[in-house]
Amino acid sequence: MNLIKAENYQDMSRKAANIISAQVIMKPDCVLGLATGSTPIGIYRQLVEWYEKGDLDFSRVSTVNLDEYRGLKHTDPQSYYYFMKQNLFQYINIREKAVFVPDGEEMDAEKACKNHEQAIQDLGGIDFQLLGLGKNGHIGFNEPGAAFEKDTYCVNLADSTIKANARFFGSVDEVPTQAYTMGIRTIMHAKKILVAVNGEGKAQAVREAFFGPVTPQVPGSILQMHPDVTVVADEAALSQLPDVIHK
Ligand code: F6R
Repeated sequence: MNLIKAENYQDMSRKAANIISAQVIMKPDCVLGLATGSTPIGIYRQLVEWYEKGDLDFSRVSTVNLDEYRGLKHTDPQSYYYFMKQNLFQYINIREKAVFVPDGEEMDAEKACKNHEQAIQDLGGIDFQLLGLGKNGHIGFNEPGAAFEKDTYCVNLADSTIKANARFFGSVDEVPTQAYTMGIRTIMHAKKILVAVNGEGKAQAVREAFFGPVTPQVPGSILQMHPDVTVVADEAALSQLPDVIHK
């Protein structure tokens, strides 16, 4: 695991965006796995800036998103598809047909998950997956206890995740209770993985995921077994590392 230390959120965003840019430049027709949430907003802003400057071209890139709430349409402002459009896709020259987010509107969970997995297969797999880390150690919506060997599936969200995500909704009651998410196996098949983490609220999750035992109780800990993982974390997120790492 390659650990890159960043000063703060802005620095983390620039460093992570640099790594993604390198991927797009090295392989212009790459398949990027993308995440939503607060963490990647600054990364996407930076990528848009470099695109506008003419430094990046997304015309041959394809993207697959990690997850989507079950029951939300693409046009719902709380959907992850909408988030991606608002924060990245509408500003860059990505082809609409090259963008894959699990279909939240498809209530047949088996079908929705199969379709997403098939889209990934048809693209030839994920070259580069961007991940955030949940406060409870989740990746995608693979909550503590999730089996490591799953492909895209329908998950019941943990209460802590529903509470954490309520900030994007009017109230906690409006947060969907289920989501479609890439499973751990799908994520682990990505050729390269970049985890971006910031803030003190993630310090315990960082310590447990990257410096503790590999266990389904901390889904992110499985990333220790991946051959090509980079973690970009700010000082606050690294504030609880075991003493041995500081020395
Ligand atoms: C988002 C996702 C989640 C988030 C995680 C961190 O697509 O899959 O695992 O990456 O919940 O969320 P933020 O960045 O909002 O702290």
